[in-house]
Order: sequence, then structure tokens, then C-alpha cells
Amino acid sequence: MTDAERTTGRTRMVGGLRAADAGARLRLAGWVHRRRDLGGLIFVDLRDRSGLVQISFGPEWTNAEGIAFAQELGSEDVITVEGVVTLRPEKARNPEIATGDVEVRVHTLARLSRAETPAIPVARAPNEELPAEELRLRHRPLDLRRPELQRNLILRHRLALATRRYFDSLGFLEIETPILTKRTPEGARDYLVPSRIHRGEFYALPQSPQLYKQILMVAGLDRYFQIARCFRDEDLRADRQPEFTQIDVEASFVEQDDILGWTEGLMAVLAREAGLEAEPPFPRLRYPDAMERFGSDRPDLRYELEIQDWTRPLAALDFPPLRAAVADGGRIRGIRVTGGARASRRTLDELAETAKTAGAPGLLWVKKNDGQPSGPLARTMTAGSLEALGLADGDLALAVAGTDRVTSPALAAVRLAAARALKLPATRPHAWLWIVEFPLFEVTDGGALAPSNHPFTRPWVEDLERLETDPLSVRSFAYDVVYNGTELGGGSLRIHDAALQRRVLRVLGVGDREIDAKFGFLLEALRSGAPPHGGIALGLDRIVMQFGGAGSLRDVIAFPKTTAARALFERAPSPVTPEELADLHLRRAEDAPGVDLG
Ligand code: AMO
Repeated sequence: MTDAERTTGRTRMVGGLRAADAGARLRLAGWVHRRRDLGGLIFVDLRDRSGLVQISFGPEWTNAEGIAFAQELGSEDVITVEGVVTLRPEKARNPEIATGDVEVRVHTLARLSRAETPAIPVARAPNEELPAEELRLRHRPLDLRRPELQRNLILRHRLALATRRYFDSLGFLEIETPILTKRTPEGARDYLVPSRIHRGEFYALPQSPQLYKQILMVAGLDRYFQIARCFRDEDLRADRQPEFTQIDVEASFVEQDDILGWTEGLMAVLAREAGLEAEPPFPRLRYPDAMERFGSDRPDLRYELEIQDWTRPLAALDFPPLRAAVADGGRIRGIRVTGGARASRRTLDELAETAKTAGAPGLLWVKKNDGQPSGPLARTMTAGSLEALGLADGDLALAVAGTDRVTSPALAAVRLAAARALKLPATRPHAWLWIVEFPLFEVTDGGALAPSNHPFTRPWVEDLERLETDPLSVRSFAYDVVYNGTELGGGSLRIHDAALQRRVLRVLGVGDREIDAKFGFLLEALRSGAPPHGGIALGLDRIVMQFGGAGSLRDVIAFPKTTAARALFERAPSPVTPEELADLHLRRAEDAPGVDLG
């Protein structure tokens, strides 16, 4: 008997009951999952976290009062029963559930809590669709009773526990860092918390513990990890939540290979815990090669499809849009899909839509069936250009023209959409990958210079002479770990020299006054004797989602937010009174006299 089983007098949880328990007298407790009344004989599926078991009420083993009471039980009532485990007759066994060989014949029944008619059903027929997600989030306590969600949370617990054991065994210390803090730039907006005591001043919730973990290294703690909550006010997508959890790691006196090796070890441990495989070492791909070959810094390498440069054969064709794109400094790049000529017109239209959504002007294609090319490009294709594309009979070529900034994201999206639409076989079920050699900087859509990772990433020494003159050519010690096309984590070696840190911030256009105001504490720490250090952060939510086969991050977080950043059950965010605002020295803009809200 475990401690959990001892409470409320129960002697067992239901999920483990088996034929070998026949004859045992037990006390169980849980929820009424389903009730079937066969006139005098009543069956109830009793559910707890461990599973379901059938319990039965019959005139031979339950008294009349008990039977009458059982007839009144409603879905999701909480009951406790005492009874005897009995083997079911052969034909009444249910191979679909683990406890299907037995039932518990109930002698006494007590209802601990009556449930209102559930707003969403907990018990569902095998193929019954789930209610709409909004409705499920609105009724989260009921939704969380679903075995799938409970399985995800149990997996999450096990992975967190395995993470702690793993890092402990390597001499890492788990150290908590503040939630009310100063802003840490990770490229998103901060959630701000007004200070009541300090009028007009604000804490920020951490986008990550980045600066604290670096300072812990300066402080000599040597090896740190934390299962850390992070907050980012950014546009939400399927793989993002405003509040999420990182496995955050930092270590001193390390090289890139140390961090990559530890991460691979952790992934192997976690994958095993989830019943999957991850076999280190993971292949490494340089960032420029990933962009050239797959158009993305998180390519899904379950599929072989690679991007080719077809500028030479295709720019020579009599096809003005292609010529124009190349004349404007672009390239023509594309993907050859072996056996892709079976794609229907509709599929090709959908792929073109995918390319457009990703920002391309359009998608050109040519396919070869029975030796004959067809498609928008076919008319102008010469035998030589067809050969240059390497199209065999039955193949399809998909091409986009423009600058790499246009063609890379478009072809990355088309690559995945084509694999999905044509049901291309995956060459491997688990595609692990490191992306290394990220550039230190990138150009934002607005044309500004921004850190590719965060501004604390260490540049390559041999590129430092070009830091001011040609910043985009400077390489960095940043790395990402990618699994089946999802970025699971990222990190870098850090700058541990205050002067270099200031130089990098200046290149980013941050003035000295601003540097001192925002990062003065970091620079001061770096000037106090800082060891070389580096680390990584892995998205725990994403790992659980991938390893648990969950459809969404919301299915692996107990109380998630919607894509509109709302908590629907507890209803957050919510308005506060003008008095509460006044306490914080705040006023809504529309309540302020003389403010033009434009
Ligand atoms: P980064 O910003 O790449 O790095 O984050 C690391 C990992 O955290 C996860 N992640 C998220 N998961 C869910 N919802 C989000 N909104 C979200 N944002 C990020 C991803 C991502 O790979 N301080 C650096 C790490 C370092 O340099 O050590 C950082 O936070 O899985």
C-alpha cells in the first residue's frame, strides 16, 4: 500500500487490479465514470488517476439500500466502496482495459461528493470527438480528468525528475532565480509588474534566467541548472505559450562540446524515460548549410528533400519572371520530389498557397510523366534544363525565385507541406540535429541589426576584427538542438569580458548611458573576475509535447493560456478597480484628464 492509497481509508488504487487479486477485500475511492443499470444489477466504471475498474452492485452481495443508492449515482460523483475482487466470467472480460479480467463486487458504498451534470463529458466513446478546445479550457478541472491529459502530466513529472537526477549526478546545483526582476532581453516583450512602494517603477518577469545564471558563474557556483518558469509577451503560435518552462543550464570553464555532450546525454535519458530513442552524438549542421540545404534553422530531417540551386538552368529559359528575379540579385531554388508527379492539381495549388503564405510571389512547378514534362514551366523547358533539374520519370520539381530571404522560408514551408501532402516516407522516425555556427547578428524585417540569439553570445575570436565593419559576417558560438523540425533548445558560450560585451552592445546601437542603465550590473560582475562560461536552455513543454505525442503545448501544461493569452477557467487577465490601480500609482489612459487617445 502506498501513502496515496492510504488516504480516506482506501486500500488500493484501481488501475493495478488484476486476476491475481481475486478474493481480496478492498476499499477503493474515485469518480463514477459510467453507470449501467441492468435492472437489479448495476455496473459502475470507477475511475482514479491510475485507471478504471468495473464495480458491481447485485442483490447477492449488496444490500437493498446499497442497490437503491447505486441507482442514484450520477456521472462524476465521488464515491468510496468496499468490496471483493471477483474474476469476471470468461465472456464478460474486457481486453480493452488493463483491469478487464476482474470486477469488484460492492458490499458498502458511500458518496463523498455529488457532481452537477458535467459541462463537458469526461467519459467518451472510443471515436467520439472532443468538445471544442475553448470549452475544454473553460472547464479545465473536468478536462484534466481525461486520461490522455493525466498521462501527459505524469510524463512531465517523470521527465522533470529524471532531469534533476541527471544534472545532480554531474555535479550541477539547482538554484532558483527571481521572478520579480529586471528585464532580460530574449527578443520578446516583457510582462511588467508595477511597484507599489516605488512610484513609477516596474519589475519585469524574466524572459529567461539568462543574466542570473551568468552571474552565478561569476560567483563561482560552477555548474547550475534550474527548471525555470519564463514569461514572454509575444505573438503566440502553436509551439509557444506566454508562460513556459525551461530546463536552464550554465557551466564554467567549458567548451561548446561540453554543453552539447551534456545535452545529448540528457536527451537520451529523457527519450528513454518516454520510451523513445535518442542516440548521441547528434549530427551537426552549420547554420549557413542548414539555410542553403533546407531553408530553415530547424529543418525536419525525417525527410531527405533538399533545396537545390537551379539559377543557371532556369534563368536561361524564356520565362520573364525568373529572369527578372535573377536580374534583381535573386536566385532560383527548388526541391525535386522523387515520385512527386502523382501530386494532384489541388495539392499543387495548396503547395503554391503555402509558398505565398511564407512570403514568396508564387511557386513554379514541372513534373514528368511518361517522359512528358507538364506544368507552368514545361512549355519553356529545354531538354538540357530538364536534365539539369535531374527529373526522372514520375518526379516533380518545385521552384521559387527571389532573394534568399524570400526563397528560404518559402521552400522550407513547401518542403514540409509536400512531405505531408504526398505522404512521403520518413527516412528515420527520430531526427535529432544540432545547428551550430549561427551568425552573431541578423537583420530584422525592419532593417535593424539584432542579435541572432541574445546579446551575451560569444563571437568567434578570428571574426572580431570585423565586428564593427562587417558585423553580419561575424560567427558566434551559439547552437540549437532540433528534433523532428522543432527547436527544443538553444544556447551559447558567453562573453565573459566586460569590454567585449560593451563593444557588442554598441554595435547593436545601444548607447553607453543605456548600456550602463540596463546592463551595468552585468558589466560590473564581468569586471570582478569572470570565468569563461556557457550554457543552454531546453523547452520542457516542447520536450513533453514531442515525447508524449501530444497535439499541443496546451495538452502538457496543467493550466495553459489560449492563443489569445487568456486563462479561460480562472479568467485571467481580469480588470482591476481604479482604487487598486491608484495604489500602484497607475491610471487607465482613458481615465486620465487631457490625454489624447488618438
Ligand atoms: P531561447 O529563447 O532559445 O533561449 O529559449 C530556449 C528554449 O525555450 C523554449 N521556448 C518556449 N517554449 C514555449 N513557449 C515559448 N514562448 C518559448 N520560448 C522559448 C524553446 C527554446 O528552444 N537564455 C537562452 C538560453 C541560453 O542561451 O542558455 C534562451 O532563453 O524550446
